[in-house]
Amino acid sequence: MYTLEELKAYVDHCQRCQLYKTRTNPVFGQGDPHADIMFIGEGPGYHEDLQGEVFVGASGQLLTKALEGVGLSRDAVYIANIIKCRAPNNRDPKPDEMETCIEFLRWQVKLIHPKIIVCLGRVAAMNVIDKNIRITRERGNWQNKNGFWMMATYHPSAVLRDPAKKRPFWEDFKSIAAKHEELCQINKGACSDE
Ligand code: URA
Repeated sequence: MYTLEELKAYVDHCQRCQLYKTRTNPVFGQGDPHADIMFIGEGPGYHEDLQGEVFVGASGQLLTKALEGVGLSRDAVYIANIIKCRAPNNRDPKPDEMETCIEFLRWQVKLIHPKIIVCLGRVAAMNVIDKNIRITRERGNWQNKNGFWMMATYHPSAVLRDPAKKRPFWEDFKSIAAKHEELCQINKGACSDE
């Protein structure tokens, strides 16, 4: 069993796929290593690649705002991506890049062992929840898979592009906070903020 630090150190020098050639920094993920809630995005964008930090650009600001809006702090959750290195020009990650990199995410999930996993957008949801998922139809639905409560919502960058997605996105965040509260009630004393 690795530690998160060991995994990060490996990812910092990873050359398992071609993306290392064009990345500035790998983006491992950040947050509370004992978080109850884990968010999974697609992969680093321009700002994340430059800073080596997860969700720090415009979509990251929206994610932070949505979390704070429902009483959750960014520091209390864990945020990671399907791929750890930026795909040039924000193209979609290629199947072989995702297949190679998702091993790190699996380790992160195993080590953090959150109660709730939220997939931000189609790429994350297809890799983690169901390869045939249709976000527009299935966002906001909870399912328990392998002992984790999982839900997909829109990617914050999709919400920034389309104001009609704002309300459902907000509703999904309220549902995440409510599910967290419910799980903490059922399992008193077992939540990471207690
Ligand atoms: N979009 C993502 O999917 N992940 C990030 O870290 C930033 C933007």
